[in-house]
Amino acid sequence: MKIAEKIDDMRKLRRRLTEPVGFVPTMGYLHEGHLSLVRKARTENPSAVVSIFVNPMQFGPQEDFVSYPRNTQHDLALLDKAGTDLVFIPQADEVYPQPFSARVEIGKVTERLEGTARPGHFRGVTTVCAKLFNIIQPQRAYFGQKDAQQAIVIKKMVTDLNMNIEIVTLPTVREPDGLALSSRNTYLNPHERQAAVVLYQALSLAQQLYANGEKNAERLRQEIIGLIQQQPLANVDYVSIANAETLDELDTVKPPALVSLAVKIGRTRLIDNIVI
Ligand code: PAF
Repeated sequence: MKIAEKIDDMRKLRRRLTEPVGFVPTMGYLHEGHLSLVRKARTENPSAVVSIFVNPMQFGPQEDFVSYPRNTQHDLALLDKAGTDLVFIPQADEVYPQPFSARVEIGKVTERLEGTARPGHFRGVTTVCAKLFNIIQPQRAYFGQKDAQQAIVIKKMVTDLNMNIEIVTLPTVREPDGLALSSRNTYLNPHERQAAVVLYQALSLAQQLYANGEKNAERLRQEIIGLIQQQPLANVDYVSIANAETLDELDTVKPPALVSLAVKIGRTRLIDNIVI
């Protein structure tokens, strides 16, 4: 496995890879969710490239950029074992040499849910992904369904800007009790960790009520909120039932519908979703 810290080195090493190239962008602190993307990239392409970059542009001023968990040596060992060919680990001034002024704005699908809760977040995600796509030139890029809106936003960027990349979305990887894997789960203390299962329980309840015939989206939202409110450590940020492509909120649930939520467990904000 080769490692590049500079864009020039990355480009040189990239040229030697067998096409097509599958690419997994990450912010490191890798878990089984990331590794499932890497393995898929490896099986669908002769070459797999991974980036590790905690992107300052996608964090708000009050968010956890500084405390975001990092463990590069451990990440590299996991990536090597998963069959990665090339890892790109740039420093912030390599990605954003000053003065840096470009921004990639995707519009409507970024202006709701996580986009409302985290202003500027998706501008940071799309700007860095556009840069990474330009540097790495993959034929396919892999994203987790856990960040469902991010995957939708990236697909829209690739379509609207005619980027010649197939975006592949893979299922959320969960703990045995249903909690979606996330690097931020590491912030949870043992009580909070137990409480955090309420996100998946609420999504499962919605799925079950829908299967039993409940199609009224507002009633489903209220059921989800009601269940989460029974958990004293949980605070609902939003609960959404929206069209899975446009992210328009629904009155009546019509597949494919994205049921997504953001909940604070103690001080840790977690997101999760299912598609009905
Ligand atoms: O999902 C993430 O880890 C990040 O948003 C991404 C796609 C690597 C961009 O920084």
